[in-house]
Amino acid sequence: MHTGKSTRARERSDRVIHSRASRGRRTDRPRSGSNPGVLTISTEAIAAALAADRIPYLDSDWISAGAVRVNDGQRLDLVLGFHLGDRHEATLEHLRAICSRAAGRPVNVSLSTEIGTHAVQAGLRPLARIHNIIAVASGKGGVGKSTVSANLALALLADGGRVGLLDADIYGPSQPRMMGTSERPQSPDGKTMLPVMAHGLATMSIGYLIDASEPTIWRGPMVTQALQQLLTETQWPELDYLIIDLPPGTGDTQLSLVQRIPVSGSVIVTTPQDIALLDARKGLEMFRKVQVPVLGVIENMAYHRCGNCGEVSHIFGEGGGQRLAEATGVPVLGQLPLDAAIQLAADGGRPTVIAEPASDNAQAYREIARRTAAGLAGRVQGQGSRFPDIVIVDD
Ligand SMILES: Nc1ncnc2c1ncn2[C@@H]1O[C@H](COP(=O)(O)OP(=O)(O)O)[C@@H](O)[C@H]1O
Ligand SMILES: [Mg+2]
Repeated sequence: MHTGKSTRARERSDRVIHSRASRGRRTDRPRSGSNPGVLTISTEAIAAALAADRIPYLDSDWISAGAVRVNDGQRLDLVLGFHLGDRHEATLEHLRAICSRAAGRPVNVSLSTEIGTHAVQAGLRPLARIHNIIAVASGKGGVGKSTVSANLALALLADGGRVGLLDADIYGPSQPRMMGTSERPQSPDGKTMLPVMAHGLATMSIGYLIDASEPTIWRGPMVTQALQQLLTETQWPELDYLIIDLPPGTGDTQLSLVQRIPVSGSVIVTTPQDIALLDARKGLEMFRKVQVPVLGVIENMAYHRCGNCGEVSHIFGEGGGQRLAEATGVPVLGQLPLDAAIQLAADGGRPTVIAEPASDNAQAYREIARRTAAGLAGRVQGQGSRFPDIVIVDD
């Protein structure tokens, strides 16, 4: 759930089109000529237009999502729980057009983002300063979980979020390489650590602390303890999202991690052949067991585009993600091709989203990031009745 003020504002705007903010200023509200009823009619017409318009990345319209803060017939303030990134301006233009057309007069539209703190597992509480933890998991290693985590974090950051990245893959920490840094975290007080800043992300990894060339044997309880320490003994700045790159697999270690870390949502990374092997499904079931919502599945190495002729081939089979989605009711957040450029960028310390921001692959990561953030936001915004009681206040 959203905490505090914004939830109440959303619930209210779900039901009453004349929000309190607009009613509160009744005295200085401009009246339109001889017909005092015209504002109400405009308000109603704008609400109808918003109820028929779908929010990008969200399976919901603006009214059902509770996005309306103020609608007084001339001014419309909308608030979303995630960033639209490069689609913000076009969406705003579109809203201005449909609302002005509906109202028969220019409507002044504003659209802002407030990222709430979302519910975590029963018995746990969100960490101070970290509003949402998103766990990135996979049924097995080598499917591209770390590459996705790095690009997801960078895409959320590029869209305007405050983002951190915790490399929890204690068996094979790869974020130091993908972030292009091996800096040792500073500890000014000897008790807590400062995150290592990389490409604008606050990052922490066991790889910063241990020598990666020396094999380390980790037993289950040690893994959990080490990770909880990395999480709680790092002085994270205020973060909208902390992306956690989890150890691969769905065994006891992973289960106990997702039981102890307060997670708001998870995403599962898989390759098409893993879908066939049902590894992804095991991951999905693990999160369901601990009541962490699975925001969706990311199909990595889903296809290959020939560098010469551009032909697309589905090396590992096709449609697996869609079948998994249908069987489990979890959306496919997106697909990424098997592409040497993704590998070169990630393993070279500058993942695709920042190395080649104009590429199709970067765009695919950004779309995935927005669907993920929207899925999290929609859990709150979509919780109101899907067909809200619209009360037109008669004045
Ligand atoms: N879509 C992709 N196309 C090509 N190479 C990829 C892709 N995704 C990941 N890789 C590469 O595959 C290897 C394994 O990816 P990684 O993210 O480390 O997997 P995991 O964390 O699941 O073990 C890395 O070298 C990475 O750069
Ligand atoms: Mg990894």
